[in-house]
Amino acid sequence: MTAEIINGKDLAQEIRMGMKEEVTQLKERGISPHLTVVLVGDNPASRSYVKGKEKAAAEVGISSSVIELPADTSEKALLDRIHTLNEDENVDGILVQLPLPKHISEQKVIETINPAKDVDGFHPVNIGRMMIGEDTFLPCTPYGILTMLQSRDITIEGKHAVVIGRSNIVGKPVGQLLLNENATVTYCHSRTPDLREVTSKADILVVAIGKPNVITAEDIKDGAVVIDVGINRLETGKLTGDVDFDGTKEKASFITPVPKGVGPMTIAMLLKNTIKAARGLEPLE
Ligand code: GUN
Repeated sequence: MTAEIINGKDLAQEIRMGMKEEVTQLKERGISPHLTVVLVGDNPASRSYVKGKEKAAAEVGISSSVIELPADTSEKALLDRIHTLNEDENVDGILVQLPLPKHISEQKVIETINPAKDVDGFHPVNIGRMMIGEDTFLPCTPYGILTMLQSRDITIEGKHAVVIGRSNIVGKPVGQLLLNENATVTYCHSRTPDLREVTSKADILVVAIGKPNVITAEDIKDGAVVIDVGINRLETGKLTGDVDFDGTKEKASFITPVPKGVGPMTIAMLLKNTIKAARGLEPLE
């Protein structure tokens, strides 16, 4: 079997076109979505991600601003800034780019953002709402992965989904979203003794390890759906995922490439969440 490739770049582009239309209609009703991104320090990768977010927002008509703060900004100064953004009615979505300098508690920062403006979906209130299936901001990468599966009508219900990785940003929430869609979910991580024993039983395999080419054709079941969340830069400068794409695509039914896979979807979902923030979340019953 040769897998069908789920091209996240094209799908994200299609989704942005739809959002552009939606934003035009919102503006006619006097709602003009605005995203504020806070960037602390000068991590080159973070700077490049923030540029990508600004460009994508502009393309769909979402205005954005970037607050750049020096690396030695105190935790208190950052929290004060977030309080000000929480109260600013012109700001719909707040995103603080991670990682933050070591002297600042990321968890404290996340918990200071008003959950109604938390377009990353990282606030414990939003994570809790996701767990119990309430309307919320879904974390962007897991939301992008779900959208990729749905775009190809891939059945999730009743399937065995295996997630490798248990980060708060990707692994844990993507497993939860698949569970919400009635998959049977298994998590693997660095302490899992025999990874292949588990991955070879997966109908849907989500790989978020953070090391290049760890998963190969031998690790997967015939016809598995393989989602590669890794973005690794090799010494040659080439970007590659956590999955050996060339080998694995001969055995999978669907596979996502790197680049042009999950990455562009993450940004598209951030914009979706920003529009949702501008419209307002449904209140809890
Ligand atoms: N750093 C890497 N990924 C992300 C993300 O999804 N959101 C934020 N805020 N920072 C990140």
